[in-house]
Amino acid sequence: MAEPSSDRILVTGALGQIGTDLVEALRIRYGDDSVIASDVREVPGHSLLESGPFRLLSVVDGDGMDSVVREEEVGEIYHLAAILSAAGEKKPELCQRVNVGGTITVLEVAKEHGLRVFSPSSIAVFGPDTPRTAPQVTPLNPTTNYGRTKVTGEVMALNYWKQYGVDARGIRYPGLISWKSPAGGGTTDYAVEIFHAALNEGHYDCFVGSDTRLPMMYIDDAIRATMELMDAPAESIGTSRGGYNVSGMSFTAGELADAISERLDGFTCDFKPDERQQYADSWPGDIDDSAAREDWDWKAEYDLGRMVDEMLDRLSNQS
Ligand code: NAD
Ligand code: SER
Repeated sequence: MAEPSSDRILVTGALGQIGTDLVEALRIRYGDDSVIASDVREVPGHSLLESGPFRLLSVVDGDGMDSVVREEEVGEIYHLAAILSAAGEKKPELCQRVNVGGTITVLEVAKEHGLRVFSPSSIAVFGPDTPRTAPQVTPLNPTTNYGRTKVTGEVMALNYWKQYGVDARGIRYPGLISWKSPAGGGTTDYAVEIFHAALNEGHYDCFVGSDTRLPMMYIDDAIRATMELMDAPAESIGTSRGGYNVSGMSFTAGELADAISERLDGFTCDFKPDERQQYADSWPGDIDDSAAREDWDWKAEYDLGRMVDEMLDRLSNQS
């Protein structure tokens, strides 16, 4: 395997929910020119298009990715491009092609050029047989197409490490809550949408029931987890490298609505479950992240109250 050519970073799926925050954080740390944002689409006016280099790139285009890696002298890929759970149930073939095919593209290019890779997994790898607090090591029997692609991604990351020495690492992100970018077609999107609806309309129709409990995380914790995992020395990364459990907070949709009501006079929420309820019901309510704590000292900082304060404050002051 070749040595990495440089430390420049390529981020796939950069204009999505996580990429919007992650690219900004990487550019602050490494310099604007060192972080190449890429996506299959352009979003007019997106802040990342102004703050540094951007390449239009589909992750299923292996030759295109190889060219970008050579031309931009990339040494590391943060691979965020994916089709999320709710969108993936509507378009299973696309979900398979982008999530599995795209990850193969990234790992193959990484093998060829000696790159390090961050490739996130999800709590969607778990299924109805998972204990309510999901262990790191447990049978993975997801019921969604998306979840199955994420299990495959974890297995591939471990295999490329074992067989080819590709340093690929991942996190099983919980549902992520952020304010800079909308959520991208997932089941946990209600935990983002509710803030926009609360501030703009004073009301939200929530698409899961009030008793639905899921693991969630504020975006600042998620970005810090990502960077801490990638900063960790190779020898501290164990067999969970394809998808470390990380715990942030755990709450029901009703508890989230109550926390917003306590801070926003007159806010009301109705619960009208749709097809996304069954995906949520197949996932655990909480996460055991002892492997991440032991291997790279992970510890979340945001609980429900602090996250709600921050979201309302940030969105109220957004220009
Ligand atoms: P998102 O849907 O907001 O963004 C994904 C981006 O990928 C979009 O900008 C989209 O245009 C792009 N994309 C789609 N197809 C592409 C292709 N063929 N080539 C290049 N780009 C393509 O998703 P996100 O929330 O930012 O998620 C990023 C990663 O984190 C994904 O792997 C996702 O599975 C994982 N994850 C996210 C969450 C969450 O709550 N946001 C939770 C668990 C795991
Ligand atoms: N938040 C994501 C989703 O709901 C989980 O990976 O699809």
